[in-house]
Amino acid sequence: MINLLRTRRSVRKFTGQPIEREKLEILKEAILRSPTSKNSMACEFIFVDDQELIQKLSQSKPSGAGALHTAQLAVVVLAKETQTVAWIEDSSIASIILQLTAHALQLGSCWIQIRGREHSEEKSSETFVRETLNIPDGLRVLSIVALGYTQRTHEGRPIEELKFEKIHRNGF
Ligand SMILES: Cc1cc2nc3c(=O)[nH]c(=O)nc-3n(C[C@H](O)[C@H](O)[C@H](O)COP(=O)(O)O)c2cc1C
Repeated sequence: MINLLRTRRSVRKFTGQPIEREKLEILKEAILRSPTSKNSMACEFIFVDDQELIQKLSQSKPSGAGALHTAQLAVVVLAKETQTVAWIEDSSIASIILQLTAHALQLGSCWIQIRGREHSEEKSSETFVRETLNIPDGLRVLSIVALGYTQRTHEGRPIEELKFEKIHRNGF
């Protein structure tokens, strides 16, 4: 695990290489194994591999969704808000589990924030994604994780850059 964390970086440019079916199955298994508050399992996921839809999703917000331009797969992370007060935590954990599993499979990924973002003055990014993918009411959209093979090897952050002063002992 520490080696995965040492070498993981967000990836925003992907090659056109398709993701193998076996890897897709592992990604699905990994997100379904994510822990959830009170075991509510309130998350739902949409695996989008249709390029037209992925390009449409890249317009979810005016900037910050560029990683979707070259992604081979976009995983939309949803949760039933009425089922658990911890829907943001549950969806976030599933998103990062997906990213770490992708990295373990030599895939790159980038978290695209949707909750709390605006598509335009009139429309939230959540509404845009909901309309694009026919997502029923009651399901909140937290993130889209863009995935694919990477164009280059990304260096992990050197240990000297870590802010160990942010870790406090026995009080702030
Ligand atoms: C909650 C959250 C939201 C993020 N939203 C976006 C986003 O909308 N677009 C994007 O390109 N990257 C997004 N990122 C990726 C961060 O920019 C990235 O993790 C951060 O700059 C650190 O870089 P690293 O992941 O390479 O270590 C997000 C990451 C997190 C955890």
